[in-house]
Amino acid sequence: MTPDSDISALQTSQAQTGVCYYPEHWPEEMWAKDAANMVALGLSWVRIGEFAWSRLEPKRGQYDFGWLDRAIEILGQAGLKVILGTPTATPPRWMLKVYPDMLAVTKDGAARGFGSRRHYCFSYQPYIAECRKITQALAKRYGRNVHIAGWQIDNEYGCHDTVISYSHAARDGFRLWLTQKYSKIDALNQAWGNVFWSMDYDSFDDVELPNQTVTEPNPSHVMDFRRYSSDQVIAFNRAQAEILREHTDAALIHNYMGRITEFDHFAFGDDLDIASWDSYPMGFLEDRSDKDALWQCDFMRQGDPDFQAFHHDLYRAVGRGRWWVMEQQPGPVNWAPYNPAPLTGMVRLWSWEALAHGAEVVSYFRWRQAPFAQEQMHAGLQNPDGSPALAWDEIRQFNREINMLDWQDLQSGLAQEAPIAIVFDYASCWAWETQPQGKDFDYFRLVFEMYSALRKLGQSVDIIPPNVADFGARKLVLIPGLFTWNDNLHAAIQATKAQVIIGPRSGSKTPNFRIPKTLPPDMPELGVKVTAVESLRPDAPSGLEKGGKFQIWQDCVQVQEGASITENRMDGAAAIVTSGKLTYLAGWPDAAAAERIFRDILSQLDMSIEILSDGLRCRNLGRYKVYVNYGSQTNIIGSQTNSDIDESYSITPAGVVIIDTITSQPIL
Ligand code: GAL
Repeated sequence: MTPDSDISALQTSQAQTGVCYYPEHWPEEMWAKDAANMVALGLSWVRIGEFAWSRLEPKRGQYDFGWLDRAIEILGQAGLKVILGTPTATPPRWMLKVYPDMLAVTKDGAARGFGSRRHYCFSYQPYIAECRKITQALAKRYGRNVHIAGWQIDNEYGCHDTVISYSHAARDGFRLWLTQKYSKIDALNQAWGNVFWSMDYDSFDDVELPNQTVTEPNPSHVMDFRRYSSDQVIAFNRAQAEILREHTDAALIHNYMGRITEFDHFAFGDDLDIASWDSYPMGFLEDRSDKDALWQCDFMRQGDPDFQAFHHDLYRAVGRGRWWVMEQQPGPVNWAPYNPAPLTGMVRLWSWEALAHGAEVVSYFRWRQAPFAQEQMHAGLQNPDGSPALAWDEIRQFNREINMLDWQDLQSGLAQEAPIAIVFDYASCWAWETQPQGKDFDYFRLVFEMYSALRKLGQSVDIIPPNVADFGARKLVLIPGLFTWNDNLHAAIQATKAQVIIGPRSGSKTPNFRIPKTLPPDMPELGVKVTAVESLRPDAPSGLEKGGKFQIWQDCVQVQEGASITENRMDGAAAIVTSGKLTYLAGWPDAAAAERIFRDILSQLDMSIEILSDGLRCRNLGRYKVYVNYGSQTNIIGSQTNSDIDESYSITPAGVVIIDTITSQPIL
């Protein structure tokens, strides 16, 4: 890890903006003018190079760095700080000729082909050796270049469903991984319960990958393969990070994606200095297919009001406080089912929202729209002819605004922990994909819906990893759907003064994917035992006595001595059970139930609640409150919404208002 002193130079006293640029896409004569225009627009950062392998090493072992030397020099001389990408997401065609087996393989056994990007298998060691070579060449040449202020390793691991590969290389790697984990094959048989259906193995070499079985494979087998696959992404990245560390003190970054859960980002993040993610709010609307057409239309030009914030908070945790938006959507994308233009003001709103969640840099994708190839219909900051595109004026306005505000004031609010935290666990995603036990059980959605319910009550929420050492001074911690306990988390629960809401489905397995001996939630202090579970049809939710419903999932619990039922289901079964500071939520609350339940708990904890109308959201930064309006209607903030602000203000669609709670006056 780079010593803090080296990277502190990078830490900005106020947030900045940047852009993704592809000099290799444009005639060299354009570069200087582009660089000057970037600076004139107020941008400070430029990311380059992440897909340029075929131009950097046109033939195996023959490098052409001349053009990149000149591009970096021109951009740097113009005053821009450069993030240089390693190009390993786009192996050139010659690579495939040398290594025809390097391709990832789908579940059905088909090799994924050349002609786009990310065509490699994370387990294929000769490709990793080639990645080391190009990284080494770049690191040696540019590691001490004064214009290079950061490195992006690869691009969007996991994009296009590329983490899991059923190749021979993956099979061989998995066998080795299992040998290291279990040492003896009998230990594996025992751990997986292979006596069931006569699945015992005699040797690690007999274990295949869990695809193409006749019916479902053993969940313990799948879970280990998911862990193995996640480990390969981490190892792949580490191979490059180690080389870069030898040659540079600049920050190492990766640009993660929205809703990619196939590898453990928390474990991965330990090898880097800064987390970043690529935020395409409208593209990701598709993800809310659970919402009806009316809702979809209402937010089609803004995106889901919680999706971006959720990822900002997630990646803040992954980056241990340091994170960026590496790619911000600037207009219509080319890849969503429908691609309307953002509502005027949204690019500014998304940028402000990122800053309010602590982003150090917001960087836009991309400088100029490409007139060729796959993304020719994807907006840039400039149209293909170089004229300003839709987001230009908003970015200029945003850059002016961030320079006008007294950033020190906001900074102290940014450093504070939120009073509420939700545990997010990648292994739980894998576990419940492996064994959903009901078509609609989706761990990401469960956590996201709870996060969203709290935000509608005006709360700011941190996302924390599952092996967290303690909960700090937080007042409320939520642990929904956690696959299995770990010692750190258990100790944090014991030690905390916070109210802890656990469930549904939490602690329902051992790490080996068995039902715990004492039955879920496998935590005697909770005072409940889950004796049966039910997944629910979408048309048959389960009513709650005080209003709202359980949807998708409910647990049937036996309540032990010392614990008390605080709410029942309509059918008389216990819905919420409390034992001191611990609460068990025995089902997945729908939006109405979640709002009511969290409202009650927040009131009991004396936390202020601000009911935000649809689309309005707020991030609390100490004395400042940053409001953004994702709604298609003008909304009211302040006194009329039960907030601690004395005045009322209106906020237009796509509006941003920052209120100083001491003076009750807007500072923006
Ligand atoms: C991102 C990717 C970029 C570009 C962009 C288009 O996922 O990192 O290279 O493809 O999407 O929206």
